[in-house]
Order: sequence, then C-alpha cells, then structure tokens
Amino acid sequence: MRAFALDEFGAAGSVHDLPIPEPADGEVRIKVAAGGINPFDTVVLKGALKDRMQHDFPLIPCSDFAGSVDALGSGVDGWKVGDQAFGQLGKMSFGHGSLAEFTTASPATIARRPAAIDAQFGAALPLAGVSAWMCIEPMGLKNGDVVVILGAAGGIGGFAVQIAKHTGAHVVGVARGENTGYLRGLGADEVIDYTTKDVVETVRKAHSAGIAGLVHTAGDAAVVVGLAGLVREGGHVASMRGGANIDELTKSKVAGINVQTRVTTEALEKLAGMVEAGSLKRPEIKTYELDQAEEAFEKISSGHVRGKLVVIP
Ligand SMILES: NC(=O)c1ccc[n+]([C@@H]2O[C@H](COP(=O)([O-])OP(=O)(O)OC[C@H]3O[C@@H](n4cnc5c(N)ncnc54)[C@H](OP(=O)(O)O)[C@@H]3O)[C@@H](O)[C@H]2O)c1
Repeated sequence: MRAFALDEFGAAGSVHDLPIPEPADGEVRIKVAAGGINPFDTVVLKGALKDRMQHDFPLIPCSDFAGSVDALGSGVDGWKVGDQAFGQLGKMSFGHGSLAEFTTASPATIARRPAAIDAQFGAALPLAGVSAWMCIEPMGLKNGDVVVILGAAGGIGGFAVQIAKHTGAHVVGVARGENTGYLRGLGADEVIDYTTKDVVETVRKAHSAGIAGLVHTAGDAAVVVGLAGLVREGGHVASMRGGANIDELTKSKVAGINVQTRVTTEALEKLAGMVEAGSLKRPEIKTYELDQAEEAFEKISSGHVRGKLVVIP
C-alpha cells in the first residue's frame, strides 16, 4: 500500500510502499478515505516522545481518520465490512498511522460516519472536535454568557466557537484579522485581532461585568492570565495547553480545567449528532495528496492554520 512515512525522527517524510496491515484481535482494518493532521503529530515526528512510547519505523504518522471498515479482527462486534467510520486509531504506539491507504483501529475510538459528514470533515473532526466539546461542555454556558476563545480560527477554536454559539452564548473569537470573516461565518459575535489590539483591555472594556468562560488553545501566557482574571465568580477557564492555574483560579471561585482529550465512540457520536442537527458545520479544510503531506506538516508547524488540514491517500 502507499503510505506517507518517515525513516527517522526529524527527517522529511515521503511516500513508501509498505505491507497492508492485518487487524489484531479486537481491531478493525480501515480503508482510509482521509487522514487528519493535528499539531500533536508534529511533536511525534520530531521524536519528543521517543523515550516514553514505542515508535515503529518507517513511521506512518497521524491518528485521526475517516474511511470504511475493510476487515475485522477476531472478537469485533457491531461492525461489518463496508461500514463508514471516523475517529482515532486508538493505538498505544506510534508508526502505524492514518496517512496510508490502509490502517487498523480500535472500535473504542471510532464511530459511524453519517452521510452529513463527508470523508474530509470526518478526518478533521475527531481530536479537535472532542477537544472543543471538552472545553465548552463543562462551562454550562447560558444564553448571553460571554465566552472568549483564544486561537478561534484553528482546529479546536473553530469547533469551540460553534459549540459555544449553540448554547446561546455571546462568542468572542481571538485570531489574526484576516480570519475575521471566517469566524463570523462560524458564529462569532465579536472578533479581536490579536496582532493589532490589546486583547485583555478590549475584552475588559466591552464586558465590564466580566466573562463567563475562557477557552485557551493558543496565545501568549500574559494574555491568558489577563483574560483569566476577567472571568467572573462561578465561571470557567479551559486550557488545551496546561494554561489554567487551577489553585489561583479557585481562590477567585473560578473553575480551571486543563483538558486532556480522550476520543471515545460516545464523544464522536455526540459530535456526529450535532452535525446532523445542523449545529456543527464543516470548518475550512485544506486537502493534500499523500506526496504533499510534508507540506501539510510544515503548514501546521507554523501555528497559523485556519480550520483543518487533511491528507487524501
Ligand atoms: N491537551 C490535549 O489533550 C490536547 C489535545 C489536542 C490539542 N492540544 C493542543 O491544543 C492546541 C491547539 O490545537 P489546534 O488543533 O486547535 O491547533 P491549530 O489548528 O494549529 O490552531 C491554532 C490556532 O491558533 C492561532 N493563533 C496562533 N497564535 C495566536 C495568538 N497569539 N493568539 C490567538 N490565536 C493564535 C492560529 O491562527 P492565527 O494566528 O492565524 O489566527 C491557529 O488558527 C495545540 O497546542 C495542541 O497541541 C492539546
């Protein structure tokens, strides 16, 4: 099969011809329609986890995918060949990823892909969508509550804007100015360009009674701390980057959450339901061919992706 793979950490990847994997007991084999890229995948490729996790070379990266079930390992219930699926591979090691024509996955981290979610959207949704859900859901936002989303134009941010908007909250997205139209289209009520405005002062002036929630997916530490200081009693700070100082926030009666995303069938089904109900839209998705995947990794490493990047094997 054709797969994008690296021969060593830090090397440029290229298209390899590798054996089609066999599903282990309890796994399904997936014929991949699209593989999704997340910032974490670049961390793996640089070897940052090499002393903590098993890595197999040639290393095929990425875990998010959409595709169809192509074969069943023994002991798999509830799936049959031909079923459309999306999710994460659910592996305990790296190297047998989703940037390939075939891969294998655990049924515990995949869900059925309804017709409302095309393959590219299915590959874009798992990690970023579940992360956004895990940030917004605990906030218990109510109509008119103000929530600020740092990194709003990115993978997680774009889903968080939509999920927050669906609660009736007043959504403030923080992003580069060129992403303003994109964020308005996703439902943001205000967009603050962090390259030209003092974000903390802008929010403080516009929302003098304080804000109900802050989602942190990007941004300088000083901005995160400044905005967290504007969250009113009973509010929430959810960080994807370990930026919630839980002890300090507790003193102000604000709940801090440092999210560790766990993609499960249940979480994916919840997101699929939101898409089918029309409350979660497809973000901007840039697609790459397998032999262009290196370019996609360079792009995500820049830290300025709008929407999501997926690779079509
Ligand atoms: N803890 C976990 O379990 C977990 C799980 C998933 C992801 N993460 C982490 O969560 C973070 C976000 O992931 P993602 O997939 O959303 O990344 P992404 O798609 O690369 O999005 C990041 C966004 O941040 C924006 N940005 C960059 N600098 C900014 C600044 N100073 N202020 C405001 N926005 C800024 C970028 O757009 P513009 O600058 O162009 O507006 C970009 O759209 C990553 O660090 C990732 O590793 C953690």
